[in-house]
Amino acid sequence: MLIHKKSDVIPSEITSKENFENRRTIIKAAGASLLSASGIVTGLFNNNANAAISKQKINAYLKSKYGADEKLTPYDDVTTYNNYYEFGTSKSDPAVESRLFKPSPWTVSIEGAVKKNKQIGMDDILKLAPLEERIYRMRCVEGWSMVIPWIGLPLSKLIQWAEPTANAKYVEFVSLADELMMPGARVPVLDWPYIEGLRMDEAMNPLTIMAVGLYGEVLPNQNGAPMRLVVPWKYGFKGAKAIVKIRFSETMPKTAWVKAGPREYGFYANVNPNVDHPRWTQSSERRIGGGLFTRRIKTQMFNGYVEEVGQLYSGMDLSKNF
Ligand code: MTE
Repeated sequence: MLIHKKSDVIPSEITSKENFENRRTIIKAAGASLLSASGIVTGLFNNNANAAISKQKINAYLKSKYGADEKLTPYDDVTTYNNYYEFGTSKSDPAVESRLFKPSPWTVSIEGAVKKNKQIGMDDILKLAPLEERIYRMRCVEGWSMVIPWIGLPLSKLIQWAEPTANAKYVEFVSLADELMMPGARVPVLDWPYIEGLRMDEAMNPLTIMAVGLYGEVLPNQNGAPMRLVVPWKYGFKGAKAIVKIRFSETMPKTAWVKAGPREYGFYANVNPNVDHPRWTQSSERRIGGGLFTRRIKTQMFNGYVEEVGQLYSGMDLSKNF
């Protein structure tokens, strides 16, 4: 994001909402009796050697109350307009460069302020809670936004399994930085690996999820397969992709973007229309997928999730804790 680009590619081919809704009805019908079928979902992940090429449906997931009336960003935009610097710095790079990335098998290490260090594989993560669809508004600090039907499980379920100690005040998420599979990780645009973090109460908030899918399908590589963080009231850069390590700590983690530009990127990164980024206004946003001449819309405090998360920041000066 520190890198200046004149224009980003906006794909012109789109999947209509009607198509998606039709597909979703079929998925729902097929998956109705499979709610406890983590084995079926596990099977999908085992076969998911190359999600960027072969799209795979997730058969069993619950609907949730979040965002049902939002107009969804077309699938092709969600999956071809990405920030994922391990695969290049252009928005169009990740969809192309992540084609050979292998998100399976996958193990996540749990470390730091926990009863004991341990590891958990994707299959076992998927058994921690039923998968749910969450339609969230996503706002990037660069001034654009999307509405994405994620599929995932509450991060709180994974944290409970991890058994953090009373010393755990923060939780850090570390992305894979594999120079063989991720060509961008050979280039020092960021201090690899990509690290993000949350305060424990933010991590435990019911809105925070680990996403393993979108649009009814296994998460494409370019969107962070096999598992990425989604925190809808914060700028998109908080959502670390391809997470391989979760570390609990007493002190605030040093996150990749704060290290790269401490005056531009804060640890909290809450969507806040009243506090501008030095280079981009945060008071309005451009919804991706609406065409070049679509009017910008007003950005909402905490991206519209004030009711759910506003109390987490009561008494804090949000212009200092940006
Ligand atoms: N995670 C990793 N590992 N590497 C990245 O470069 N980019 C972040 C975030 N997670 C990034 C990352 C940024 S800046 C944004 S806006 C979101 O991913 C974009 O997520 P999306 O491509 O699924 O929309």
